[in-house]
Amino acid sequence: MAENNTTNTKDETQVVKHQQIGHKSLLQSDALYQYILETSVYPREPEPMKELREITAKHPWNLMTTPADEGQFLNMLVKLINAKNTMELGVYTGYSLLATALALPEDGKIIAMDINRENYELGLPVIQKAGVAHKIDFREGPALPVLDEMINDKKYHGFFDFIFVDADKDNYLNYHKRLIELVKVGGVIGYDNTLWTGSVVAPPDAPLRKYVRYYRDFVLELNKALAADPRIEICQLPVGDGITLCRRIS
Ligand SMILES: C[S@@+](CC[C@H](N)C(=O)[O-])C[C@H]1O[C@@H](n2cnc3c(N)ncnc32)[C@H](O)[C@@H]1O
Repeated sequence: MAENNTTNTKDETQVVKHQQIGHKSLLQSDALYQYILETSVYPREPEPMKELREITAKHPWNLMTTPADEGQFLNMLVKLINAKNTMELGVYTGYSLLATALALPEDGKIIAMDINRENYELGLPVIQKAGVAHKIDFREGPALPVLDEMINDKKYHGFFDFIFVDADKDNYLNYHKRLIELVKVGGVIGYDNTLWTGSVVAPPDAPLRKYVRYYRDFVLELNKALAADPRIEICQLPVGDGITLCRRIS
């Protein structure tokens, strides 16, 4: 969706076309992204995730959903780190939530927050059918006050093994201030959209969409802050729209 391409060479036209498709991949070729999806992602995608992806595709805001390759990555990550207590900020219809819930053990838990319950309820029947709804504690409303309550309750300090942040980008640094206390040492926070459709490298006068330009400055500020934060190790991955993994070390 980044619209920072103003010239019309064949290669750049291809980039524009690729980005306009809106699947959020940062790869510079449709064919390569399609290859990844068709070879490694779709054939192994759990049936409920496929069903939820197809329901979400019909929703007018479907651009917000986590892409299937990133869902596969999150599912694997949760298993690799043996996460049990997790949190998600920004649920939409629940694709990343389902990817996480399916990966958790039977007694695993996700505290999931979104200001919009209606979209969550679109995906909820699929989550229920998949037999993982009991792992989810959905909280409707803005995430920040919920995090503040957790900060005030010592029980939640160092409680979470994994936290996925995919909500309002202008609050990411406010979230980070709190989440760093709530994730355990050795646990992981994943910040989504940290390459922001590639706009992080757009020149100042690039014709970006209004919302891309607005949030870009927050993303740039977050990326700098994460890189300078001695309490975490980081890994910036160009999966989906860019995801930065932060492993708490102190
Ligand atoms: C990019 S979508 C999340 C996509 C989701 N992770 C998925 O896999 O489909 C961002 C979500 O953040 C929610 N949101 C926006 N501001 C919020 C806030 N202050 N607190 C909690 N959720 C918020 C929006 O309602 C929206 O559903």
